[in-house]
Amino acid sequence: MDAHRPKYQSIQVLPLAGALGAELLGVNLKTLEDTAGWKEIHRAFVEYSVIVFRDQDLAPADLMRVGAKFGEPCHYPFVVGMEGFPYIFEVVKEPAETRNFGGAWHSDTTYLRQPPLATLLYAVETPSHGGDTLFANTRAAYDALSEGMRKTVDTLIGVNSAELKYGGGRTAMHKKIAGMKIQDTEAADQYLSEHPVARTHPETGRKALYASRGHTTHFKGMTEEESAPLINFLAQHQTRPEFTCRMRWAPGTLTVWDNRCTQHNAINDYHGQRRRMRRLTVGAQTPS
Ligand code: SIN
Repeated sequence: MDAHRPKYQSIQVLPLAGALGAELLGVNLKTLEDTAGWKEIHRAFVEYSVIVFRDQDLAPADLMRVGAKFGEPCHYPFVVGMEGFPYIFEVVKEPAETRNFGGAWHSDTTYLRQPPLATLLYAVETPSHGGDTLFANTRAAYDALSEGMRKTVDTLIGVNSAELKYGGGRTAMHKKIAGMKIQDTEAADQYLSEHPVARTHPETGRKALYASRGHTTHFKGMTEEESAPLINFLAQHQTRPEFTCRMRWAPGTLTVWDNRCTQHNAINDYHGQRRRMRRLTVGAQTPS
């Protein structure tokens, strides 16, 4: 992060870790109209990649309005949206449930041709402890590669699939999570997209790693067997502790993350307690 950039005037910014993430204080998203305030929020989003607002009181219509500041809403193909709000769905883990949603390192829906640039996740009900989300800065991870490895990844195209590692498709996987309202489709194999492994962020011009064990099956022109060692290396490298931050939730917390230069992982360590979140993705964009 650049120490010479102008400071924030209308919001307070409290960084969460050295690599990424910041809490933005002094903001009421329900009532915020101020253009200068939104400009600063957007600047913080680009600068910190993960921004967190505490103690917000957001109905689904408010969440749609906040999301619209970042981009057009995107449809998530595998889960039914909320009544009247088809783009928002609830991520729920019930007390009796042992599986969770999003519990592996990934950037959202990279198997789409135009994945969402941002995800908004709003906490409605959270466990007394646990259920945090980890984030990793994949731009810092790219920068930390050797020159030789950067040259290699710059040439690679990742093939991303929704079906990877989920026998029976993503729908079957989601059906195992009791709290989720599943879209009745088995079309996971239709979601397959090729994207550069070193993705350039359109707003910063910086490259970031854009491959994961969860979604990237192989590199174009290589077999899965040939690709696996490098996918595994990149997955481990980009989630090194110094590239991460850890976000603790409470009801009323809204987090917005930049899928173009981060990955996240929902920690599944709260069996016996309920966690209920509302999730909205926005800003379909072709990675380049
Ligand atoms: C997700 O991967 O979109 C969900 C993350 C979380 O529940 O913390």
